Amino acid sequence: MAKILIIFGSNGGNTEMVCDKVNEVLSKEHEVTVQRGELSNIDDMDSYDLTIFACPTYGQGVLQMHMAPIYYALRKKDCTGKKMAIIGLGDAKYDKYHHLESVKIFEKGVHESKGELIIDPLKIMRSPIPFIDSTVTQWAENLSKLV
Ligand SMILES: Cc1cc2nc3c(=O)[nH]c(=O)nc-3n(C[C@H](O)[C@H](O)[C@H](O)COP(=O)(O)O)c2cc1C
Repeated sequence: MAKILIIFGSNGGNTEMVCDKVNEVLSKEHEVTVQRGELSNIDDMDSYDLTIFACPTYGQGVLQMHMAPIYYALRKKDCTGKKMAIIGLGDAKYDKYHHLESVKIFEKGVHESKGELIIDPLKIMRSPIPFIDSTVTQWAENLSKLV
């Protein structure tokens, strides 16, 4: 059993919905804590084996407002040997040049912090509802085996 932290930002509830499902699946095998970005500090991750950053894209390719400070703090932190995963949400209708930019931004953060991305990011376009019992559940089951 591993200790897993999910830090998420969500304005409209889509990312929260995805995190709830990921939590449900991972909790069958692991101890999971889910925290909103606005109530999180990057150093919270120190006491966990895996940290998942879950963030939608807003405003033409920028991070959800409460996840931006988490990202900037991550970039400055030495996370050598720390396991990480990324969940990104977006919608092609907003800006065709910045689809799911939150995933690319957090990948950069993981790289700069020297963290280890242990699974390909989970990417959800448009509403997550059709993907909750398929893509999201499958991703979480795969992650559960890797941590
Ligand atoms: C004002 C606004 C701007 C957005 N800009 C982008 C964008 O640039 N790129 C993208 O892929 N999605 C964009 N989105 C789509 C959101 O990322 C998507 O709806 C996501 O599911 C919202 O997550 P949330 O409900 O957890 O806040 C935008 C949504 C809104 C409302």
